[in-house]
Amino acid sequence: MNKSTLPARNDDSSSARPDGPSFVMLSCAHGAEGIVKSTIAEDGWRLSFSRPGFVTAKHDGLRSPPSGIFIRTASRSLGSGKSGDADELIDRLIESTQSLTLPVDHLHVYPRDRAPIGRFDFEPGPDEVSTAVAERIHQRLGPDRVRCATPNEIAQPSQTILDVVLIDPSHWFFGIHTATTLPSRWPGGVQPVAPEYEPISRAYYKAAESIAWSGFDLRPDDLAVEVGSAPGGACGRLLEMGLHVIGVDPAEMDPRIADHPRFIHYAARAGDLPRRVFRGAKWLLVDSTVKPDATLSTVRNMIESRETSFQGCLITMKLGDYERASQIPRWEREVQRWRPKQVEIRHLARNRCEVCFAVTL
Ligand SMILES: C[S@@+](CC[C@H](N)C(=O)[O-])C[C@H]1O[C@@H](n2cnc3c(N)ncnc32)[C@H](O)[C@@H]1O
Repeated sequence: MNKSTLPARNDDSSSARPDGPSFVMLSCAHGAEGIVKSTIAEDGWRLSFSRPGFVTAKHDGLRSPPSGIFIRTASRSLGSGKSGDADELIDRLIESTQSLTLPVDHLHVYPRDRAPIGRFDFEPGPDEVSTAVAERIHQRLGPDRVRCATPNEIAQPSQTILDVVLIDPSHWFFGIHTATTLPSRWPGGVQPVAPEYEPISRAYYKAAESIAWSGFDLRPDDLAVEVGSAPGGACGRLLEMGLHVIGVDPAEMDPRIADHPRFIHYAARAGDLPRRVFRGAKWLLVDSTVKPDATLSTVRNMIESRETSFQGCLITMKLGDYERASQIPRWEREVQRWRPKQVEIRHLARNRCEVCFAVTL
């Protein structure tokens, strides 16, 4: 077995020991690793092993794992192992946990993204191989090392999570992090969702994640507007949550959405509709295939009208390529001109090459 290139650490908190250095492992979307590397390098992290969707780094000082728009998960690295024999890899993992205060609360096992999201129908998160590996690791670790009844449960804030990332089935990285934000509580930073019905499009999952991550208090009977609503995946999620929904899109809606008693479709571009049609709406979701600057000007016109009283917006900003992420600070400044209460930006696990702005008004 080829053993770790990263040394095991001596405590179970997410920060490095006072004597440093700090070692981290980060996951992100396949293709976003370049922007993750350049962002953390600006903060003095020295890059180490990386693959598409996975980055490790070292800092000479005492540092907590970095966070950022494109960082999906961040853990303090405990080491890695390479072997064709899963039990040898688990031996190596067990060795690295000896430096921790045991038992930890959770075990999260997930693969790095093996393709850009949506390409060849790829979706992030635990897969068949990682699920089988997770079961085996959980069994071998036993209750003395890990408290959870099953692997890949959602953690509670402050709980400790042992992470195992499968770079490929025979090359694993081990890390530890403490749950804080909602995505940091999900296995691999990917929201586990069990749809009631077969979703109409993958936008169902994206909407579910954006709603959960934003913390917006969407309630049954609230009115939501979605701009760029066809064919209707996101509207399906909103209807499932009991909301009334207005969909705005020149394209046709799937009949399962179009015929829903709590749904109204305006077959138009958002900018062409009188603002009064949005009267009473609390929530605005935007997922139109429109350039970000035009998207922001549409949203601004909608929220600044005296006819409307939106409380929160979830805006998908299409990047096209990751180079355009350099525009995010400019778009954020534009959003700040609306005088929102809060703006959060994240490359959601279910986002393709796009980011989500959650704007609280
Ligand atoms: C990514 S799809 C939306 C998927 C949808 N959110 C779902 O849940 O299934 C983008 C949509 O934006 C629509 N679109 C493009 N320009 C628009 C505009 N100015 N106003 C409204 N919709 C627009 C397109 O017709 C297309 O259906």
